Amino acid sequence: MTNSLTQRRSVLAALSTLPWLSSAWAQGTMSHDMSAMPGMPEMPAMSGMAGMHSGAEAVTALAPVEAIAAGAPLAALKKLVNTSSKPGVFRASLRAAPVSLAVMQDGTQTEFWAYNDSLPGPLIEVMEGDTVEIEFINALPQPSTIHWHGLPIPSEQDGNPQDAVPAGGRRVYRFTLPMNCAGTYWYHPHPHGLTAEQVYRGLAGLFIVRAKNDPLHAIPERHLVCSDLRLSADGRIPANGANDEMNGREGQFALVNAQRQPVLSFDAGGRERWRIWNANSARYLRLTLPGATFTLVGTDGGLLEKPVTGLSELMMAAAQRIEVIVDAPASGGVVGLVTSPVERGKMGMVPPEYPITLLTVDFSAVKPERLAALPALPSSLRHIQPLGAAKAKKRVVFSELMSMAGGVHSMKFLLNGQTFDMQRVDFTSRINEVELWEIVNEADMDHPFHIHGTQFQVVEREMDGKVTPEPLLAWRDIVNTRSGETVRLKLVQRHKGLRMFHCHVLEHENAGMMGQVNVI
Ligand code: C2O
Ligand code: CU
Ligand code: CU
Repeated sequence: MTNSLTQRRSVLAALSTLPWLSSAWAQGTMSHDMSAMPGMPEMPAMSGMAGMHSGAEAVTALAPVEAIAAGAPLAALKKLVNTSSKPGVFRASLRAAPVSLAVMQDGTQTEFWAYNDSLPGPLIEVMEGDTVEIEFINALPQPSTIHWHGLPIPSEQDGNPQDAVPAGGRRVYRFTLPMNCAGTYWYHPHPHGLTAEQVYRGLAGLFIVRAKNDPLHAIPERHLVCSDLRLSADGRIPANGANDEMNGREGQFALVNAQRQPVLSFDAGGRERWRIWNANSARYLRLTLPGATFTLVGTDGGLLEKPVTGLSELMMAAAQRIEVIVDAPASGGVVGLVTSPVERGKMGMVPPEYPITLLTVDFSAVKPERLAALPALPSSLRHIQPLGAAKAKKRVVFSELMSMAGGVHSMKFLLNGQTFDMQRVDFTSRINEVELWEIVNEADMDHPFHIHGTQFQVVEREMDGKVTPEPLLAWRDIVNTRSGETVRLKLVQRHKGLRMFHCHVLEHENAGMMGQVNVI
């Protein structure tokens, strides 16, 4: 392995001198990141750094990071209003359409594509057991679907690429949620080859399923949706460049609830429950909040069996969600929720990356007496039954292939040696049967694995021959696979039909790092 890696890296080094890569570099995110280094004042001269790239070919000039104002109070997510009066039924419509919004402080209009004109898309909040009926109106100039990421619902309601709604068309998605699926989900388009673009133009919304008995219901809850945005200096959303297609798109703006560096005024009681969505196309998050204490209580598919206390850092691959209890620091004060760069094997000439302050957290309302009186969290949150012995096994291999055939570079993102084909069924699974899936990352980059229609339990990870049993019993629909790593997980599909599985760096998914399993 080391040999082929070394070879690959020298190929990359050679390639990085080619113009397509250096121009990609110029589109990178170098300038803004520095402005957000914790403890550093905002640097107004950021755009001046563009001069550092003067050797590169001309590319779209990016807006400086100050183009979007920082420091507004954190906005609550806009909720999708239930128009049904029947108990247990949630009915509403979502219209995907172009919309012009002035997000830059100078009033420049940007054309986004959004659900119900809202960034991020509205939050759907339902109870376990509810029936959901969403009329989808596609007012985009392209086909689209709504995929209900992570939800255990029938495949024909899950917005598969095969079921695209044409431009100008509409359909109703209807499903009933099973019990025991309370968790933090999201929804986004999934049309063949167009997912990445539709998401980076603004199409992604939130979905929370609640349980009747939630052991943490008394703790005030916050919703933090992390999403990237890239704007050119004239306020447009530029198309992907070669660097984005390779490494996944990262914008110069790392937003929370579509705001740049908003301010969260922490609850006076000193404890909050945060649901965090990594809704980025590609950016991984490594979150710290100096002085505060994190307790992980949930993953994609809901609460853990037991809280994991005393965490100082939270890692989130693209598309992952978590629930954390945040306890205020005794010292009060104002601190930044910072995301630090994650080494995920980006290729080409990657500019230096810096920590970004996503959010300012103001603890000044917290009363020290109340902080001292905070009760211990419940030691058990829910029961999670470990999935039993596997009846079948599947093996998924992620790999990358670079070629310079005919003097033209190309980069392929492969799953089991192939790119996605809607006409090809890669695997067959049996309904209600426990399967062991082995996800092997033979690529140079990390790739977050995702499968539709169900949640899985990670069993173990293997790296350089060393097997590490997974310490957490948790329900997930995303797991990062590091370069050279093998992750083993167990899952059961509870509905028949076609399901996608893929890397959730959206550019890689678009490029075909995706397969499909038919559940019979
Ligand atoms: Cu977020 Cu194929 O999905
Ligand atoms: Cu999904
Ligand atoms: Cu990938």
